[in-house]
Amino acid sequence: MRVLDRVEQMGKELEAARSNGRRVGLVPTMGALHAGHVSLIERSVRDCDVTAVTVFVNPLQFGPAEDFARYPRDLAADVHVVAAAGADVVFAPPVGEMYPAAAPPPTRIEVGRLGKVLEGAVRPGHFTGVATVVAKLFAMAGPCRAYLGEKDYQQLLVVRQVAADLSFPVEVVGCPTVREADGLAVSSRNRYLSADERMAATVLWRALAAAAASGERDGARLRGLMARYVSAEPSVELDYAEVADSLTLEPLVSVDREARLLIAARVGSTRLIDNLATA
Ligand code: PAJ
Repeated sequence: MRVLDRVEQMGKELEAARSNGRRVGLVPTMGALHAGHVSLIERSVRDCDVTAVTVFVNPLQFGPAEDFARYPRDLAADVHVVAAAGADVVFAPPVGEMYPAAAPPPTRIEVGRLGKVLEGAVRPGHFTGVATVVAKLFAMAGPCRAYLGEKDYQQLLVVRQVAADLSFPVEVVGCPTVREADGLAVSSRNRYLSADERMAATVLWRALAAAAASGERDGARLRGLMARYVSAEPSVELDYAEVADSLTLEPLVSVDREARLLIAARVGSTRLIDNLATA
């Protein structure tokens, strides 16, 4: 496996693979790799001939009060995880390699309404940061399949929109959320939780699962049901509990089409998100 930190090297490596007729899979990450990331890498390794995993903590997508500085970074550990999962390339550029002129760069990608609702409303500029770095990675990698997790459901939709609107020759593949045995979605941020917070954090999953199993079709009642679950945990503060159209994230009055339940909450100082399809 090759570990690269220069854009030019990674572009050449993947170009060479394609010119030999090999299909390239790309797995963008911010490192601190866990079972969720591994599931994406393994899927790419199954589907594609060459898999490149990018490890880059993107400053553009963090707000000023967010955890950019304390975001966990351990490239040596990540390289082991990627190698064990069978990928071929790790691309881990320094910030100056991704943003050589200026960070933030003056050219950024605006994603419209999809970037302003839910996570976008709570984290202004977040999806512009995600869209910009992912577009850069697509441009650097060239034609490929990109593997993203449903764990970050809104991000998956944003990346699909970026690929379509800007005509990137990339097929975006959404992969199911990997969970702990008690339902908590695996996340790099779970390591911030104390033992008590870790127990309380399962309420996101419990609320989603109960809402999906309820068979309820009324949007307001579904939101209320999820909010009641979360409010039963005193250490958890709800940001939103939404039921939305699964393609546009437009809030639904009633579940009369494919819908997604989405929750964001703070557990102590840690912000967690999760989502689930309605039954
Ligand atoms: P990161 O949080 O490292 O996540 C990288 C990818 O792993 C994302 O597609 C995310 O949805 C997926 N993922 C995380 N937890 C998962 C889980 N429990 N099950 C399945 N997939 C999971 O998301 C980002 O990085 C960044 O925003 C990025 C897209 C790399 C742009 O900087």
